[in-house]
Amino acid sequence: MPALPDVIQLTQPDDWHLHLRDGAALAAVLPATARQFARAIVMPNLRPPVTTAAAAVAYRQRILAALPAGMAFTPLMTLYLTDNTPPEEMRRAKEAGVVALKLYPAGATTNSDAGVTDIRKCHATLEAMQRQGLLLLVHGEVTDAEIDIFDREAVFIDRVMQPLRRQFPELKVVFEHITTTEAAQYVAEAGPHTAATLTAHHLLYNRNALFTGGLRPHYYCLPVLKKEKHRQALVQAATSGNPRFFLGTDSAPHASVMKEQSVCGAGCYTAPAALELYAEAFEAAGALDKLEGFASHFGADFYGLPRNAGTVTLRREAWTLPEVLPFGDATIKPLRAGETLNWKLQ
Ligand code: NCD
Ligand code: ZN
Repeated sequence: MPALPDVIQLTQPDDWHLHLRDGAALAAVLPATARQFARAIVMPNLRPPVTTAAAAVAYRQRILAALPAGMAFTPLMTLYLTDNTPPEEMRRAKEAGVVALKLYPAGATTNSDAGVTDIRKCHATLEAMQRQGLLLLVHGEVTDAEIDIFDREAVFIDRVMQPLRRQFPELKVVFEHITTTEAAQYVAEAGPHTAATLTAHHLLYNRNALFTGGLRPHYYCLPVLKKEKHRQALVQAATSGNPRFFLGTDSAPHASVMKEQSVCGAGCYTAPAALELYAEAFEAAGALDKLEGFASHFGADFYGLPRNAGTVTLRREAWTLPEVLPFGDATIKPLRAGETLNWKLQ
């Protein structure tokens, strides 16, 4: 058996699903991403959401202004799709460098109340996106109260994804942060214009993590962690070498005071050790050789963007993630706070 590597060099990766927030929170979290990733798809679920090309341009400027001197990073901007997003806005978006629109079913997750109530209302806008070559990024969960929260992704495939794919076969669609066997199988069979992002936490944890020794708010995200059999299917997809599965952290920072109260916001803050967490998941699957394609090649290829020129190096080295990090006037706990990781980004 070949010895396990102690150093891994990768083409510099990109994060194809990231929440950067705004203001002091943005300034607090941006360096953690920029030190690893060359580019990131920046989610538009601010308050108020980023719904116009002009708002996306202004948000991009705030991100670049918050970047510490000497750091290079390219934010890839998205718009928040609503029932009323005008088709004409798609041309302005394309011209402004926006790359995608995000579909949040109304009420599905953090800051999604302005989301889409019925995808049929977006028909003309989806047509315009397809024409302009803008991607559709999907939070794939139905929101009906009668559907069990653990089944919402699987039901979304039947009710929304399949009809959408039939109606807009040329639209590039990314099924974001998939969490189930059903979604992995759907994407594997869906043809060249459908891809999926996978988070590190859904590769590493099953839903037991939410309840180990008590309720664990820092493991609560949406879509919620699922059973072990689903986690295994996700690991299989991520390490399969299929180029339509790629890295998207869904790092979603919330201040500790927001996470640790009677109603806890959804989101895991994984940016500080994102690549290390993915390396751990790939190593556990005996698939470290598949990490580079997943982290650094496939996303860029799917988006039609050049792969990055630089490299990053991970070294086998035990280190401990800080218990808390500054977050504007507050503090934030990264996933794995105070715990030891075995890989370290150099
Ligand atoms: C995200 C957030 O906090 O903005 N939360 C999460 O649990 N992933 C929203 C989202 O992507 O669903
Ligand atoms: Zn997200």
